[in-house]
Amino acid sequence: SGAIVVRAPGKLFVAGEYAVVSPGEPSVLIAVDRYLTVSLTESVDAGSIHSPEYSRMPVRWTRGQDGLTLDREHHPYDYVIAAIEASERLRAERGLHPRFFDLHIESGLDDPSGRKFGLGSSAAVTVATIAAIDEFYGFELGTRGRYELAMLATIAVAPNASGGDVAASTYGGWIGYRSPDRDRLRAARSAHGVAAVLGSDAWNGSEIIRLAPPVGLELLVGWTGHPASTERLVSGVSRGTNVTGDAHAGFLEASRDCVEDLWRALAVLPDAGAPGDAGSDGTLALDAIRRNRRLLQALGERTGVTIETERLRILCDAAEAIGAAGKPSGAGGGDCGIVLAPADADVAGLLRVWETNDIRHLTIGVHPPEGDN
Ligand code: PMV
Repeated sequence: SGAIVVRAPGKLFVAGEYAVVSPGEPSVLIAVDRYLTVSLTESVDAGSIHSPEYSRMPVRWTRGQDGLTLDREHHPYDYVIAAIEASERLRAERGLHPRFFDLHIESGLDDPSGRKFGLGSSAAVTVATIAAIDEFYGFELGTRGRYELAMLATIAVAPNASGGDVAASTYGGWIGYRSPDRDRLRAARSAHGVAAVLGSDAWNGSEIIRLAPPVGLELLVGWTGHPASTERLVSGVSRGTNVTGDAHAGFLEASRDCVEDLWRALAVLPDAGAPGDAGSDGTLALDAIRRNRRLLQALGERTGVTIETERLRILCDAAEAIGAAGKPSGAGGGDCGIVLAPADADVAGLLRVWETNDIRHLTIGVHPPEGDN
């Protein structure tokens, strides 16, 4: 019988990083036209996972107080296994007959040299695995259901993940995203099971909206060449934040301001103007991104975490110098920076500065929105 082949896109954060870790706080992401592919074939008496890239990736462990602990940087297979486990729970709860399958994974989201770009391969592998199993068993989850099941799998591995990357990889296009309360989801899952959580009010406060791509602004992505650990950065910021709780409330409010301006510029709020006009000439969107960059700089200083590395600073400063807006995409500490440039900006000049400073221009476009099914 034929294999089920599913691909899921990678993602970039545009705005709202770190704030979106708090339930209900808004962010903006895009799905990109680079993909991870999962092929599923039915097997007879056992299942398996194969991946040329991922089987070469090291699994690290350290010695903690209570014995051995896995390194906080999770292995992609952790997400695949969590996706299989969540799907198996749903299968059993729906009373479907169990079957076995082999999964083959190919990641186009990591640098061929084995270094990660930071394009959300953990989310993409979770989303693609869920989608393949959905098709295999005929769950008919639909777009929102796939997001929710992939999200339950994700937080079983990374408890604090906002899931913005999961949403972007599932929905495609430009999205506005508010994270659900993950403690509540975990509690509901263990009390009532997976099937009961899907579509339930345990998701209240979470939101995924489709945004119109900005008209008249060009998207550019620069890669610092330094892979970063999101989990380490996020836990560093949260440790620093516990010490300065008041300042963090201010950060959340200011970030919300930036992101909601961006939502308005990308035309989804009731009082918004024409679709995707990015605030007539794009100034509203550009200004929101520049402000968000400043907020993340201040957050890093306050918590003692290097969100904007030297390479990211050069990347973003070069963008601002040509009248564009740039900021680290995601947790920072390396990985990618994202730039939106007005049509008349000297993009060639920007790319020259990047080249001189060893910042690689990744030619990346947007993966179009998936239909609602
Ligand atoms: O580093 P990335 O691209 O995985 O993005 C992390 C974004 C954070 O807001 C810092 C964390 C999260 O889970 O949203």
